[in-house]
Amino acid sequence: MSFSNLVNDLSYRNRGDSNNTDRTVDTRQTRSQYSRAQSYVSTAATSVSISGDISSQLHGGYSHPLARAWQAERQLTKSMLIYPVFITDNPDEETSIPSLPNQKRIGLNRLVPFLTPLVAKGLKSVMLFGVPLHPSAKDTLGTAADDPQGPVISGIRLLRRAFPQLFITCDVCLCEYTSHGHCGILHEDGSLNNSLSVDRVSDVAIAYAQAGAHCVAPSDMNDGRIRAIKLKLIEAGIAHRIVLMSYSAKFSGCLYGPFRDAAGSIPSFGDRKCYQLPPGGRGLARRAIVRDIAEGADIIMVKPATQYLDIISDAKEIGKDLPIAAYHVSGEYAMIHAAAQAGVFDLKTMAFEATEGVLRAGASIVVSYFTPEFLDWLET
Ligand code: PBG
Ligand code: ZN
Repeated sequence: MSFSNLVNDLSYRNRGDSNNTDRTVDTRQTRSQYSRAQSYVSTAATSVSISGDISSQLHGGYSHPLARAWQAERQLTKSMLIYPVFITDNPDEETSIPSLPNQKRIGLNRLVPFLTPLVAKGLKSVMLFGVPLHPSAKDTLGTAADDPQGPVISGIRLLRRAFPQLFITCDVCLCEYTSHGHCGILHEDGSLNNSLSVDRVSDVAIAYAQAGAHCVAPSDMNDGRIRAIKLKLIEAGIAHRIVLMSYSAKFSGCLYGPFRDAAGSIPSFGDRKCYQLPPGGRGLARRAIVRDIAEGADIIMVKPATQYLDIISDAKEIGKDLPIAAYHVSGEYAMIHAAAQAGVFDLKTMAFEATEGVLRAGASIVVSYFTPEFLDWLET
């Protein structure tokens, strides 16, 4: 009901003719609508002053900040956050990434000092990405991905020792390690060789798990890799203590650019459209989610996050009994920074709004480059 209708309605009732259904404005009325409303309040304060249904009254439920927080099904807490960390093969490296504000590529010698203040502030989990900078590190098979001396496996060991409470997730993919920059092993014609890629990706996942990762998260998108990893985890006798998080609904698009700058994983030819999902592919995403649950995934991830809230909500509906994760990816993060820089909005307010949207859609885990800020902004 509009304000003028309300005032009209009240003034009719005030005059004792509330049965009158003609609510056209009385043009002979000289007092302003505001003062009419005021006089109503002073004369009839004890009667119900709203003629609509009583359920129209909402403000009381969220007038206090705590009451506002209670309106959310899921409130953002530190334990929901996973922080992506880029570890290089140059031990003393600590380099800023221009397209990914405030994020760094870190060498093994700098990793513990880099994470110590964050762990002290309540960091619960990291996601490790390996970034081989050495010129000879890449080949067609992505051999360096599970190099026992490489940055990820060394990083897992180091972090397990330094931070026994920290939950270590590893992204599992070959694109950082292949000479062509694609997420698997290729056929001669440049397309993905799915069966070889699944063999290789699942071996890499097992190597990370055996080195001490708590969670392996394959992002390669080869068909059948969840089943292969689960079977190898069972075979290795470690399936009972490793979380398998599937990047099930990972869409292709332009939002991974800053990440590829950071990780040096831009494909040398072509794109990833034949294995990452097309942005309009909601049905395909649902099929991938159903499949990965059947293949043994413990957590389903949707990525990117804010452009794909319907997919997150589908994932929560399909996977009622699993935690749903969302990756608030590099492009989303960089976009918020750029817009805040341009004065469009306040960075912190937008970081919360974006992340709360992702939680509202159904996620209870968020991989976020804002994690260090959230550790400052959140109390728990
Ligand atoms: C590797 C991988 C990517 C991301 C996570 N794992 C890049 C890609 O698929 O091209 C993107 C993360 C981000 O943009 O923040 N396959
Ligand atoms: Zn990849």
